[in-house]
Amino acid sequence: MCGIVGFAGIKNSKEAVLNGLRKLEYRGYDSAGIAISSSDNVLSIFKDKGRVEHLEEIITKDLDGPLAIGHTRWATHGKPNKINAHPHISNNKRFIIVHNGVIDNYKELKYTKLSGFNFYSETDTEVIVNLIEYYSRKYDVSSSIRITATKLEGSYSCLIIDKETPDKIYVLKNKTPLLIGCGEKGNIIASDVIPLIGYATKYTNLEDQVFGIVTKDSVSITDYLGNKLEYNVNQVSVNDEEITLGRYPHYMLKEIEEQPDVIRRLISKYFDGENIIINKDLVSMFKSINKINFVAAGTSMYASLMGKYFFEKLCRIPSEVLQSSELVYSSPLIKDVPLFIFLSQSGETADSIAVLKKVKESGYPTLLITNNIGSTMASISDYCLDIYAGPEISVASTKAYVAQVVTMSILAKAVSGSITKLKNHLKSLAKKTEEILGKKVIIKGLADQIKDAKAVFYIGRGIDYWASLESALKLKEISYIHTEAFSSGELKHGTIALIEENVPVIAICTQEGTNGIVRSNLIETEARGAKSFVISMESLSQSSDSFIIPNVSHYLTPLLTVVVTQLLAYYTAVNKNLDIDKPRNLAKSVTVE
Ligand code: BG6
Repeated sequence: MCGIVGFAGIKNSKEAVLNGLRKLEYRGYDSAGIAISSSDNVLSIFKDKGRVEHLEEIITKDLDGPLAIGHTRWATHGKPNKINAHPHISNNKRFIIVHNGVIDNYKELKYTKLSGFNFYSETDTEVIVNLIEYYSRKYDVSSSIRITATKLEGSYSCLIIDKETPDKIYVLKNKTPLLIGCGEKGNIIASDVIPLIGYATKYTNLEDQVFGIVTKDSVSITDYLGNKLEYNVNQVSVNDEEITLGRYPHYMLKEIEEQPDVIRRLISKYFDGENIIINKDLVSMFKSINKINFVAAGTSMYASLMGKYFFEKLCRIPSEVLQSSELVYSSPLIKDVPLFIFLSQSGETADSIAVLKKVKESGYPTLLITNNIGSTMASISDYCLDIYAGPEISVASTKAYVAQVVTMSILAKAVSGSITKLKNHLKSLAKKTEEILGKKVIIKGLADQIKDAKAVFYIGRGIDYWASLESALKLKEISYIHTEAFSSGELKHGTIALIEENVPVIAICTQEGTNGIVRSNLIETEARGAKSFVISMESLSQSSDSFIIPNVSHYLTPLLTVVVTQLLAYYTAVNKNLDIDKPRNLAKSVTVE
């Protein structure tokens, strides 16, 4: 998934686009590029492998102009290199394009329509810009672009410049996110809202299958046949403070430290006294269903496991957690009357979007729990609950996990009414999270002990096992240490073969019923040479334990355990001098299947 930005204004388009690319780099950082149209309509392209920072160094000093488009890449088609970097240009050098998405039929179009054209890169994108040239032999630029769009299969947000109309940016949008913001200095187009801050106060979230023309003082949106379309207008509600690092060295540490405030914000948003403020239709809809299917990817999928716990234990509703990428290409047997609950921090994960569309077609009710109520998934889902975590920039998700789980506990209470004192439990959870944040030095010490490991194992049972899954994901995402999580009982049925001298095994023991057995499973690994660590809860702790979390309600312990393991992953990666916020090969949310 890539990030694209375009600006049509009076001047300084270069900074507007570079500013946007810097802020979108969490979407992909394999290469970056920009096309700038100077005030005398001369178009210059700069692009290379690597970060936006490097791109800034290769742009001719003092070059600027009223209009520019830019791109930061997460490679899908073609290696991360200069040739495959965007912008791409048509054979006749008239059309320039940046693109976010994947064209599924690009090979077929290349051979059926573009046999006379030369192709310099391995990308699917070059096919789009040459197809526009192909149709421009017969049609005007707008018609050429709209006709081209009707030939494309797949996902695409594109910004196109035509040298013959240098005051316009042409826009195509299908499946991958794209917003247009209007401001005093000009109009800005971007893959999400963050680049709009400081450049626009209002924006529209484009629907699928639309074409647009943006100039410094006008925006027109039509369908592919040229029919004008009305569009929704939203306020830019994020502010700069929320997205700047401030006193922190990394966004990941900032976002870990924000978790107590995120919990308090959720209490203030969803509680009025002891009453819970959640859409009554949504709550009563639970009476008409007899099964919950959670659908998500990555960290959101591990958060869903806690949703399964709350709704099964506290609401007695059978629940299942389904991986969205698996569900895209399979159709589970559905006998019940299920509610599909989707969890997605970004609301833009392509796998989850594809399943959501399938479920909508089959008429089952859908609820989205997200950090982005302006997202594509929010526009499709029947119901939507905001997790109010604030912008999450670091690729490894932290505060969104805690906010998703807290939101589901509040929803489960609203549905079952059974979780007494939840508000107080959440208040104390916020305090106890601060206590853990006050003991970073202990966690730095643990990170020092595991940083050179080739492999690490987390073990636990029940919700401690589920917390282990998220903990293992964090460590492997940013430290690149091969980390796996296992139900501790499963170890001896195979995996224990991987335990050798000094392999770190971290046991999570916060549940009374399984504390003893998990500890004895850990001892079995010590017998094979493992270096053992225990993360326990005060009331179940032993003096030799590696980290002891304060006592908290048994159904909320993963929300404290993950703060410890988020910091463990963070300090291990810091020790290894790795790029914390932009780990290799990853992207914040993957908008391609
Ligand atoms: C991955 C991110 O791309 O997508 C993970 O790197 C994230 O951090 C996962 O958990 C799912 O994203 P989302 O936005 O659907 O919760």
